[in-house]
Amino acid sequence: MPTLLHIDSSPLESSISRELTREYVRSWSAKNPQGKVITRDVSTWAPKPIDAFWIAAAYTDEAKRTPEQNAALAVSDELIGELEAANEVVIGVAMHNFSIPASLKLWIDQVVRSGRTFSYASGSPKGLLSGKKATVLSASGGVYEAGTAAGALNHADPYLRTVLGFIGITDFTALAAGGANKLMGGSVSREVFLKPTLERVRALAA
Ligand SMILES: Cc1cc2nc3c(=O)[nH]c(=O)nc-3n(C[C@H](O)[C@H](O)[C@H](O)COP(=O)(O)O)c2cc1C
Repeated sequence: MPTLLHIDSSPLESSISRELTREYVRSWSAKNPQGKVITRDVSTWAPKPIDAFWIAAAYTDEAKRTPEQNAALAVSDELIGELEAANEVVIGVAMHNFSIPASLKLWIDQVVRSGRTFSYASGSPKGLLSGKKATVLSASGGVYEAGTAAGALNHADPYLRTVLGFIGITDFTALAAGGANKLMGGSVSREVFLKPTLERVRALAA
């Protein structure tokens, strides 16, 4: 069954990135009426930061893990299970301080795990989640076009491309609604501002 993992990370209800992912899910569901959507909102429930105990557990052979170590990895197992079940993932990203929200970083730290989503068994890094597609839909106050001086300040999309590629998700597309600051000044309505981006979102999901 086609399965989409839908992740949101903006803490705001009026979030633009949430509106983009909602539209993506709507279009995707229309195209995949039998499809399943798994929803994970990391802004309302973020995993704990990984700690020394978690790291030791993750690098202990599965067969040798204690019940406490298995418990420490339970959230990671659940989140990785959601990624494994999905053919596709769509991630809503609010640009915070030139990067991703901290809650999304916490999710990443739980799903990037040796032996589960990447491996160095052959001597070089290998992503284990191949054959999946990722779409990142972001919103930012400023505009960060790739190849421009401002674009070099965007540490969100390039980071997500790198880290998802590291775990094998190399089919990566990023689409940004940049320039949201304009909405604060009231020089443009939200509808007019979002229309072209929503059209591109629908095209991506179709
Ligand atoms: C805590 C915080 C940090 C922000 N940092 C940046 C930033 O570094 N660059 C930028 O262009 N916009 C920044 N913004 C503006 C947001 O990216 C913008 O409001 C965007 O719409 C957030 O996405 P959302 O609407 O999905 O929450 C920041 C906003 C907040 C609340």
